[in-house]
Amino acid sequence: MLAMRIINLFALLIVCEFSNASRWSPAVTNADLIKHLKRRGVLKSERVENVMSLVDRANYSKYNPYEDRPQSIGFGATISAPHMHAIALELLKDHLYNGSKALDIGSGSGYLTACMALMVAPNGKVIGIDHIPGLVRQSIKNIEKDQPELFKSGVIRMVVGDGRLGYLPEAKYDAIHVGAAAPKLPKHLVDQLKVGGRLIIPIGREGGIQTLYQIDKITNETIERTPLHGVAFVPLTDKESQVA
Ligand SMILES: *[C@@H]1O[C@H](CO)[C@@H](O)[C@H](O)[C@H]1NC(C)=O
Ligand SMILES: *[C@@H]1O[C@H](CO)[C@@H](O)[C@H](O)[C@H]1NC(C)=O
Ligand SMILES: *[C@@H]1O[C@H](CO)[C@@H](O)[C@H](O)[C@H]1NC(C)=O
Repeated sequence: MLAMRIINLFALLIVCEFSNASRWSPAVTNADLIKHLKRRGVLKSERVENVMSLVDRANYSKYNPYEDRPQSIGFGATISAPHMHAIALELLKDHLYNGSKALDIGSGSGYLTACMALMVAPNGKVIGIDHIPGLVRQSIKNIEKDQPELFKSGVIRMVVGDGRLGYLPEAKYDAIHVGAAAPKLPKHLVDQLKVGGRLIIPIGREGGIQTLYQIDKITNETIERTPLHGVAFVPLTDKESQVA
């Protein structure tokens, strides 16, 4: 892993040399950001690359939209780092197809909800849920600027509510993404997952390091829990760090 990092860094240095960059410059376009995520190996599939290319992060994050770091979006909330969005979409992509139904809990800026919606369009539906009304209104404005057809076609719906309870009126879901850490796996979310569906959620003690879990519903009574060791959320600072 360390060796790979060093090789990556070396490759980056070579790219800088050849592009005659006088300083370490951050990504300045959405396309630059996509290139960075591919080079880093978090963006793997063409489908996720296409969707992240279509959704311009500048419409969702006022500050440094193309930097691979979480950013403040007001209301005491953050938009996750782009690599976290890429990881989530890669994990969920086989459950996000034309006609499938998804739930994005802690939808925040609306960025990931919009990406998911493009993946389930035209016949699917994604519900974004967040508990702060002002944040939900802002996310609707963001999506209307970036992907207005998603509202017209009814593929996306943003609601105010307590995401820990899921969203029963539209259950059950093929894919559920949780963008905030939970101390343990919420039963409501497992209940609202279809058999064959997948849930992605950071689980762990508050104030500690949390592990991203992949929960697959095998039958109505059985789930498979897969801890994804590579990623941990550090909730107190709202930062996410790679611990692999
Ligand atoms: C999406 O699914 C519907 C229903 O199965 C189908 O009629 C439609 O052609 C599909 N659209 C695309 C773009 O795949
Ligand atoms: C927002 O989205 C629109 C439509 O995709 C795009 O033209 C625009 O460049 C994006 N960025 C900003 C900062 O408005
Ligand atoms: C799955 O369990 C729920 C209750 O948890 C029940 O309502 C439903 O009928 C069950 N479905 C099947 C296919 O057994």
